[in-house]
Amino acid sequence: MSQVKIGVLVSGSGTNLQSIIDSINSGDINGKITVVISNKKDAYGLERAKQHDINAVFVNEKDYNNIESFNDSIIEILKENKVELVVLAGYLKILSSKFIGLYRNKIINIHPSLIPSFCGKGYYGLKVHEAAINYGVKISGASVHFVDENADTGPIIMQETVNVDYNDTSESLQQKILKVEHKLLPLAIKYYCEGRIEVVGRKTLITSK
Ligand code: GRF
Repeated sequence: MSQVKIGVLVSGSGTNLQSIIDSINSGDINGKITVVISNKKDAYGLERAKQHDINAVFVNEKDYNNIESFNDSIIEILKENKVELVVLAGYLKILSSKFIGLYRNKIINIHPSLIPSFCGKGYYGLKVHEAAINYGVKISGASVHFVDENADTGPIIMQETVNVDYNDTSESLQQKILKVEHKLLPLAIKYYCEGRIEVVGRKTLITSK
């Protein structure tokens, strides 16, 4: 099977991007990142890409009149780089419905809670963990899912839990969950690249090799 061409979208530090790069370099993922795109000029994720000789592109929303044309330019870059799988690794912009339609069940997102808890509009960064701590949940975790038209509502591919301890803060919970994310996201991408993820309605099935 040929290597799947992957495009990664980031807005921040890109530790999840790093976990994908490491997993590809160790031979776990049969894929290749052909481009990393960011809506933030100073996103450290772009720097990580450059350090690994990966094409890194900053797209400035201010150069576009609306969210559709901004998304169209990203679609153009993905096409130029022959991207077959899009990974949102801490990407904080909403995708246009055209984008989602073009890459139906070919866009993977990672979210730092157990969907459907603490997800959707407004739940990003530390806000997710603050909400979990304030609610008093005893477990939280990470979810990897396909992206559909709404925020964090697409079919779930994998989830893993972490315990929330009495003394946890949003920062400590974030760190615990990031550790899990760095395992889970590369694993989901590995399965995808092996053609092992089937989507059946809202459910997904990971088939054996
Ligand atoms: C992660 O917690 C991810 O789940 C969320 O954004 C954060 C990105 O972190 N979508 P990083 O940029 O990969 O370090």
